[in-house]
Amino acid sequence: MRVTNRKVSLAVLVVLGLAACQQQATAPKETADQFVERLNKEFSALHVEGAQAGWVQATYITPDTEAINARTNDRFLAYFNSAVEQAKQFDGQPMLPASARAIALLRQGVSSPAPNDPALRAELTQLDARLEAAYGQAKFCVAGDSGCEGVDVLGERLGATRDYAEALKLWTGWHDQGAQMRKDYERFVELANQGARELGYADMGAMWRSGYDMSPEEFTAVTEKLWNQVKPLYEAMHCYTRTRLATQYGEDKVKPGEPIPAHLLGNLWGQQWNKIYDDLLQPYPSVKVESADRALKEQKWDALRMTRSAESFYTSLGFAALPATFWERSMLTRPRDRDVVCHASAWTIDTKEDVRIKMCMQPNEEELFTIYHELGHLYYDLSYNKLPYLFQGGAHDGFHEAIGDTVNLSVTPGYLAGIGLARAVKPSNEAIINTQMKMAADKIAFLPFGKVIDEWRWKVFSGEIKPADYNRTWWEMRRQYQGIAPASPRDESQFDAAAKYHVAANVPYTRYFLSFILQFQFHKALCDAAGFKGPLHECSVAGSKEAGARLRAMLEAGQSEPWPVTLEKLTGTREMDASALIEYFQPLLAWLAEKNRGQQCGWT
Ligand code: ASP
Ligand code: SER
Ligand code: ZN
Repeated sequence: MRVTNRKVSLAVLVVLGLAACQQQATAPKETADQFVERLNKEFSALHVEGAQAGWVQATYITPDTEAINARTNDRFLAYFNSAVEQAKQFDGQPMLPASARAIALLRQGVSSPAPNDPALRAELTQLDARLEAAYGQAKFCVAGDSGCEGVDVLGERLGATRDYAEALKLWTGWHDQGAQMRKDYERFVELANQGARELGYADMGAMWRSGYDMSPEEFTAVTEKLWNQVKPLYEAMHCYTRTRLATQYGEDKVKPGEPIPAHLLGNLWGQQWNKIYDDLLQPYPSVKVESADRALKEQKWDALRMTRSAESFYTSLGFAALPATFWERSMLTRPRDRDVVCHASAWTIDTKEDVRIKMCMQPNEEELFTIYHELGHLYYDLSYNKLPYLFQGGAHDGFHEAIGDTVNLSVTPGYLAGIGLARAVKPSNEAIINTQMKMAADKIAFLPFGKVIDEWRWKVFSGEIKPADYNRTWWEMRRQYQGIAPASPRDESQFDAAAKYHVAANVPYTRYFLSFILQFQFHKALCDAAGFKGPLHECSVAGSKEAGARLRAMLEAGQSEPWPVTLEKLTGTREMDASALIEYFQPLLAWLAEKNRGQQCGWT
């Protein structure tokens, strides 16, 4: 994910306020264009303090850093609300198109809006910081008090075990951590909804859906259309995977026609299934298209080497090397002696060159993909850092999430062999199907998860789902979309949604669903630019300066224009569309149709 902490200092705010008053007495009234110019400067100058406070809390959780972060955020949100208020006086006034766009973007500039009442705003920012800290500090004591582990180690262990009971214990132990966040989350939603209403939105969900250059209703329809395009692909993967799991664990545990037990997919949230590819999902084990897990461990790759590898992909496209401060200031592994938020994120502290990654990297292929993903955010930030502050963002947030993942689509078995992390495999149909299955366990498995998180939150924010029903509805929707279910009963004393970082930290999630569609559109366009001829799934743009130039042009535009314009420049279409994804997976889809024949697919 990418962190957008836009925060402000009270001291600076007071000075600016005085300056504005004095200016009003002596100078003519500010024009809309001057107003936007001032906002860009103020936001940009004030971003630093917020990012610093956010960074320090996330990399060193203590009551003090939590309080400092909450206070800084409080001041930012006060400034943000007043900026939105001031902007209203320019409604209908003449201004440059760029100023009109900046003012339109302004209102969606935060994901956790606050009420104007100072006491309520303080309460909201404290809850926000406390929820983030609680997620970061959550631990499950696997082996009594001595063996307490966080999300990074628990996730790794769940990915590795094939013991049903052990997996269930890890899964349950992590999900039980959500309960402590339930009361805080309930109150947080009330307050943030009030903030959204004061900004003129129906609720926080409507605010999130309004960030896409179209109405919230149109946006809901777009996501629905995309979901219907890809649903059959997911159903085919689900069917095959359930059959494989039934062979592994027995039909009494994994029942035909029933949802898959949520703890058996090698991932705490069942969102991506790559950890069970090597030994459970690989269609032709003798061909051995393996993940890079084994090689990374055998060759003792560390976090630095993995990060250098990611950087070298981007430089091969013509991007600059990362600045020295990146290497000095990033947190690439979990520190020994303090609590941190392990969920990977990318930060640009100063809106310029001070870019950093925060991660608890483990030497496995999933984490290798994650660091490639995170550097996508940083190269986006670095590419648009000359734009005015209000244009420094992804064309929409799904674009931001898609850059590093697009790059990952070029991390083919051939590319991995080239960097010594896979052995070269003789081309064959079996090798193609293996490779496609490895990608599908990540890219197709994720799709319903990417959709359901905000489906659920939109209903929570609109009031359709009441706090008393949080857990029941969460699992009903997970079952409906993903066809997975907890193996042991969950109830309303628990709060399983908060066991997912983005819920605890209130980060919108539809961006990932969009990204998983868009990245295939981007990949196809870049492969064309690189002059690649052949099936899409065989393309890697590594080393292509032409592809790099096309990508950079998109990144440099930031959010200065509506996203369909940006999309059209790269891909020739103004619409998000899953046909590139479907084209990419053609061989596997045909194979799965054959394989699933006669199986009882779907779930009740
Ligand atoms: N960047 C990923 C995400 O956006 C991080 C991860 O996979 O842990 O949340
Ligand atoms: N990085 C996102 C997550 O962890 C999507 O893969 O949920
Ligand atoms: Zn991301």
